[in-house]
Amino acid sequence: YSKNRIAPATMKLLLALAGEADVVGWRRRMVAGEPINESEGRAALHMALRAKKGDGVGGKDSLARALRERARLKRFVDDVHMGKRKGTTGKPFRTAVAIGIGGSYLGPAMAVEALHPHRRAEFEVRFAANVDGAVIRRALSGLDPETTLVVVASKTFTTEETMANARAARQWLAGALGDREALTHVAAVTADAGAADRFGAACDNTFLVWDWVGGRFSLTSAMGLPLALAVGADNFEALLSGARDMDRHFLSAPLAKNMPVVLALVDIWNASFLGFRARAVVPYDEGLAKLPAFLRQLEMESNGKPQGRGSAPVVFGEPGTNAQHAFFQALHQGPDVIPCDFIAASESPITTGDHHRRLLANMLAQAEALMRGRPATDKARAFPGNRPSNVILLDRLDPFSLGQLVALYEHKTFIEGVVWGVNPFDQWGVELGKELATAILPALKGKTGKARHDSSTAGLIRRLRTKKKKNR
Ligand code: F6P
Repeated sequence: YSKNRIAPATMKLLLALAGEADVVGWRRRMVAGEPINESEGRAALHMALRAKKGDGVGGKDSLARALRERARLKRFVDDVHMGKRKGTTGKPFRTAVAIGIGGSYLGPAMAVEALHPHRRAEFEVRFAANVDGAVIRRALSGLDPETTLVVVASKTFTTEETMANARAARQWLAGALGDREALTHVAAVTADAGAADRFGAACDNTFLVWDWVGGRFSLTSAMGLPLALAVGADNFEALLSGARDMDRHFLSAPLAKNMPVVLALVDIWNASFLGFRARAVVPYDEGLAKLPAFLRQLEMESNGKPQGRGSAPVVFGEPGTNAQHAFFQALHQGPDVIPCDFIAASESPITTGDHHRRLLANMLAQAEALMRGRPATDKARAFPGNRPSNVILLDRLDPFSLGQLVALYEHKTFIEGVVWGVNPFDQWGVELGKELATAILPALKGKTGKARHDSSTAGLIRRLRTKKKKNR
């Protein structure tokens, strides 16, 4: 973080701030399984998902449940891959369509792409998140229902988008295989086993998460099932080991040398003290193309809250070098200072050509240019410089280091919540829109309900209804 506007004295003060906010106490409470998600009275025990006996994370109960579910998931995935668990017509599964949204989608989708070189060649995993008919249609297109497993991933099993897509997929299966037979092809990941059962997922195919696993902190839970199907249970276990490795560091390293703590303090300095209200995440690794979207939810849904002394900046990003040819103009010369997290792997599995060295050269050049700038008499050609960035280097992008990286940002997000004085584990801000959508849907179908809309919304509803009628 040496390219930040942070002198040793600044870091000292930031560490004092962390002390005042009692980050050590909060960390202890999190590890002990206390209900630190106060608005919902829940613990936040994602570290138990990858812990081993004796790690001292959470109570015995949560660890035992996590270990049991991990073992079930491994067996299931191995059985699918070995063809022991087959479709209803006796053919082995060759594809999985993972249906889920938000935290039940972004992590697994990001990781499947990141670990592409580790994927099982004979098994394809596709995702469907958005409730846009085109998405589920494309996800199912060209697939053989006889060899397709549909994974419905929803902690609540009530999320409207997910359930609409899940019903469409179940219907697609039933159309080809029959109503009852279709259910052999449905797996579920949820905290509500009853709802999964009512939907039709067999309990053998249902994997549990618990109220102490937040959606955006759930990649290392059974929500990782699509990832495990894509890369194999052993690689999924390696990702958990990497996350655990970062957990051990987070729990034991002194605050001044604690990566998640330092990363959080740097971000707090930039966002809250210097007023830089956006941060770019730019991985110089195409495998991490979906990391910015994953971190956007992790950080903005966790800490985009009004109650505290500060809140998350806007997080956005693209892989470098594409990002350079898209928005770096504004990073270098725009009036707003936008700090950057650059992320790259020191080694690449691609040994032909010098692409990887070029990628790294570009990353270092951008970070240097942002920091040093360049004076010029001509304003158009002048670079102000002194623009902050961090560089995070992995040895290589593999399951273990991806687990470390995910846990790094999970803990960073938690520490920021503590220092800002917000609860990173709830998300009340998504509720109002959900309620209004429920009220608007009948109106779009032409039903006049009790809901009163403002004139702007009512006008749009009228317009959409007339258009639909004309198109019929
Ligand atoms: O966007 C709100 C939210 O509750 C997220 O926090 C969560 O990750 C997502 O919806 C999906 O929720 P579920 O897993 O319950 O379908």
